[in-house]
Amino acid sequence: MTTLAGKVALVTGSTRGIGRAIALRLAQDGADIAVHGRSDTGPSQAAAIESCEAIRALGRRADAFTADIASKEEVGTLIEQVESAFGRLDVLVLNAARAPFKETRRLLERDLRQLVEVNLFGHVFCVQKALPLLEREGGRIVFISSLGSRYMNPQYPLGPMKAAMEAMVRQWAEELAGAGVGANAVCAGLVKTDSYKTLRRLWPELGALPESAYVTPEEVADVVAFLAAPDSRAICGQTLVVDRGLSNRVMRAPAE
Ligand SMILES: NC(=O)c1ccc[n+]([C@@H]2O[C@H](COP(=O)([O-])OP(=O)(O)OC[C@H]3O[C@@H](n4cnc5c(N)ncnc54)[C@H](OP(=O)(O)O)[C@@H]3O)[C@@H](O)[C@H]2O)c1
Repeated sequence: MTTLAGKVALVTGSTRGIGRAIALRLAQDGADIAVHGRSDTGPSQAAAIESCEAIRALGRRADAFTADIASKEEVGTLIEQVESAFGRLDVLVLNAARAPFKETRRLLERDLRQLVEVNLFGHVFCVQKALPLLEREGGRIVFISSLGSRYMNPQYPLGPMKAAMEAMVRQWAEELAGAGVGANAVCAGLVKTDSYKTLRRLWPELGALPESAYVTPEEVADVVAFLAAPDSRAICGQTLVVDRGLSNRVMRAPAE
């Protein structure tokens, strides 16, 4: 597939997990990829290098960048670097997330600030800084949400941030339509990534779920690729739930 041939995508948090799968899928569809993570040392650096190598093996260009999305200044530098490396930006996938797993009574002020600064401010900074590039040729924004936006999960204060962001995506779809920029979200079910390992420790009941309850990073990436491509142009400000039906069956365990 070459629906994104000649295009450039920035996937925040694409050193590992779902972001990495999205970066690879968009590369398969023809896009050159700006791989992004928060840290440029240790395992994060190694993961960024590995993501770039996997994309290059698909015949696409990939460069790695670091920025803490909670910092407007770092996001500004990130977008400048992407522009000077690739000369354009067509697809912005807002995938990076970082949050404490704590119930409300235990949230410290610094936890709350990190929660909002990364998972709300961070995405808004990315859109503000990327917009001049995205609006040049009708860009697309795809936000990665989770079922916490609509169902309570224990010790998961990220859920309310996801709910706010799904509303933000609706807002962007209307605000940016005139500039030719589309915005939608993908709400992923349970995906076995690094952050899932922490959730699993805090929420042992997850261990009782059959394998069929889990979505793979590639299944999430397939839907992101659709929303990044021209065929989805009439979908505006929506959140597509990609959970293998888990949220349809709250009263019943999914079948194996
Ligand atoms: N896993 C699930 O079950 C699940 C379900 C539904 C939705 N989601 C959503 O899918 C997305 C990806 O989840 P995941 O489980 O794949 O995550 P993950 O494995 O924890 O990876 C997080 C990525 O985000 C980056 N990141 C974290 N904080 C950052 C910051 N302040 N600035 C810039 N980058 C930052 C990390 O970079 P470094 O490597 O440098 O730390 C890493 O690349 C998240 O939005 C998550 O909420 C996950």
